[in-house]
Amino acid sequence: MFSVCVIGTGNVAYHFSKIILENKNLKLSQVIGRKKELDFEFKLNINYNNNLNSIADADLYLICVSDVTIKEISKKIKDKSNSVIAHCSGSTNINVLKNHKNFGVIYPLQTLTKKKKIDFYKTPLLIEANNRNSFKKINFFSKSICNQVIKCNSDERAYVHVSAVFCNNFVNYMNFISQKILESKKIDPKIILPLVSETANKLVQLRPIEAQTGPAIRKDMVTIKKHLHLLENSDFFYLYKILTNSILKNTDELQE
Ligand SMILES: NC(=O)c1ccc[n+]([C@@H]2O[C@H](COP(=O)([O-])OP(=O)(O)OC[C@H]3O[C@@H](n4cnc5c(N)ncnc54)[C@H](OP(=O)(O)O)[C@@H]3O)[C@@H](O)[C@H]2O)c1
Repeated sequence: MFSVCVIGTGNVAYHFSKIILENKNLKLSQVIGRKKELDFEFKLNINYNNNLNSIADADLYLICVSDVTIKEISKKIKDKSNSVIAHCSGSTNINVLKNHKNFGVIYPLQTLTKKKKIDFYKTPLLIEANNRNSFKKINFFSKSICNQVIKCNSDERAYVHVSAVFCNNFVNYMNFISQKILESKKIDPKIILPLVSETANKLVQLRPIEAQTGPAIRKDMVTIKKHLHLLENSDFFYLYKILTNSILKNTDELQE
């Protein structure tokens, strides 16, 4: 059976561990972290260790730690020439693992949080490998847990990642601001949720260019001025201005 050792105990480690445990063709040989105890709700089924020197044998070592730590962790994994070592970062080059014979990347193009269940099978996995042998193993593992496996090199992946920051991280932060504004006026922030879902759902049918509404796309300077006045003493005044100017600047393209 194809065995995987997950290194890290955060969001991505949690989701990979869960999907591996649920798959009868895969074996989760170990989870390695630095905590004393694992905080996954399914921890009883897991061989957990907090010492990288006690790392178990596995076909694949999946490094799921913060980007800045990948290199350091990779260097601590010794003598695994029959296995593949992979990280799952969007913006980290594959070569950060070049101290190994077989290495690669398995980047889940999804926002993963322990608290939120997801259908991992539908999460696109962007994969890269340093040689044929690594690719075979990474591809086998990825196809066992996901139905959208896409070959993508480090340069392309960096662009995918920056694009993901816009459509997910920034959009989520905009929702945070939106709720803050409502809360500051003691308005129930839940009233905005149907708008939040429709904003995402409409992209199934329309391109963002076609879906854009609001005062900036309409070049409605009267409303924009009113909004800026409401935000005069807010931290979000400049953000509103920058985003509005960006929409105004691209309006011709947006309306074509
Ligand atoms: N979350 C996502 O949506 C997402 C999606 C795609 C790809 N990724 C990538 O997946 C990787 C993990 O992200 P994540 O969201 O799972 O991060 P996370 O929840 O913050 O977890 C980070 C993990 O790294 C460990 N860590 C941090 N510094 C360390 C160090 N110096 N030594 C040992 N372990 C250390 C943490 O240990 P402690 O818990 O003990 O601090 C934790 O287990 C990153 O490369 C990220 O770019 C994330």
